[in-house]
Parts: sequence; C-alpha cells; structure tokens
Amino acid sequence: MGIEIRVRAATEADVPRLAEIYNHYIVTTPATFDIEPYTVAERLEWFAHYAPAGPHRVLVAESEGVVLGSAWSSSFRPKRAYETTVETSIYCAPEATGRGIGTLLYAALFEALAGEGLHRAVAGITLPNEASVAIHERFGFRRVALLSEVGRKFGRYWDVAWFEREL
Ligand SMILES: CC(C)(COP(=O)(O)OP(=O)(O)OC[C@H]1O[C@@H](n2cnc3c(N)ncnc32)[C@H](O)[C@@H]1OP(=O)(O)O)[C@@H](O)C(=O)NCCC(=O)NCCS
Repeated sequence: MGIEIRVRAATEADVPRLAEIYNHYIVTTPATFDIEPYTVAERLEWFAHYAPAGPHRVLVAESEGVVLGSAWSSSFRPKRAYETTVETSIYCAPEATGRGIGTLLYAALFEALAGEGLHRAVAGITLPNEASVAIHERFGFRRVALLSEVGRKFGRYWDVAWFEREL
C-alpha cells in the first residue's frame, strides 16, 4: 500500500463523508436495508448516539486527510438486558475496499471495545457478501443464524445471515 492509514474516533466533521460512503451502499447494494439516502442532518442525529469512549463508538480510517472507511458499534436492541451486546457495522469507500482498511478498522474497534464490559458482538450480513463474511470470520465471528427473505429491496427478497462473537 505504501500510504499511511490512520484509524481514529470519528467527529461531527466526518459526518458528511460518512453519509456519502453509506449512501453509496444504500443506493447501489442490499448490504444495508435502508432504501433512501440520508441527509447530513439525519446522519448527524444518528451520530449523536455515539461517543469517543464507551460501548457505542464510530471509528474512521483516514489517509492523507481523506476518510476511506468507517466501523461502528451500536446498541443491538433497546431493552436493558441487551446492554452487554453491541451490533457492529463496517463500510469502506467503494474505491478503498480490498486493501486491508476494513481489517485495520475492525482491529481498532475491537481493541477499543475490550475494556467496555461487553459480552457479545453481533452482525447481520445480507447475502451474498463474500468480503463481509470474510472479514467477520477473520475477527472471530461465526454464523449462528440465517433469516430468509427478511428484506425486500430492488424488487426482490434478501436473506440475512447473523454472526456473533465473544468480547
Ligand atoms: C466488507 C468490507 C468492510 C471489508 O473491508 P475490506 O477493507 O474490503 O477488507 P480487507 O481488505 O481488510 O480484507 C478482509 C478480508 O475480506 C476478504 N475480502 C476483501 N474483499 C473481498 C472480496 N471482494 N471478495 C472476497 N473476499 C474479500 C479479504 O481477502 C480478507 O480475507 P482474509 O482475512 O480471509 O484474508 C468492505 O469490503 C466493504 O466496505 N464492502 C462494502 C460494504 C459492505 O458490504 N459492508 C458490510 C456490510 S454487512
């Protein structure tokens, strides 16, 4: 690669770029079941649920001042007994996939989460998504469930595989 990639906590100033990356996948792939792209204002509301410390964080990977990807940990479900579980997500800019940036992001995210008293991480992957399955398995997730045809996007149904790992 040769170019230095830095992983750090996201700030509000990153949100327009994060929206741009995520909106690309909303519009072009079933990876997320959002259908409409977000405005920056909507994504700022989303970002308000995260903090630089604690269980719910957004990290970005940056190279020469350009954000190339992001990973975050969020509340799995709102009921309090789920507080020791997080759902993790990861999206690299389309021009920056397959270069190890996702691996850097997830390594930093799970390192950051290690001291937060969490017990499980879960991730839902719309199938097929070879790269996402590969990176989750690399980070110790194993597939525990397949929900069939639970999402409808682009005029067809999609299966979602659920993965989990210990923290
Ligand atoms: C999924 C994603 C985050 C992985 O990050 P990445 O930077 O591309 O992945 P890396 O280069 O760090 O590689 C991680 C693993 O994925 C594999 N991989 C990467 N791209 C791949 C591809 N196109 N097809 C198959 N495997 C792939 C790598 O070989 C590597 O596997 P290994 O650890 O067994 O060697 C990234 O590809 C991405 O943003 N994809 C589009 C958005 C998306 O689908 N997000 C996940 C939603 S659930």
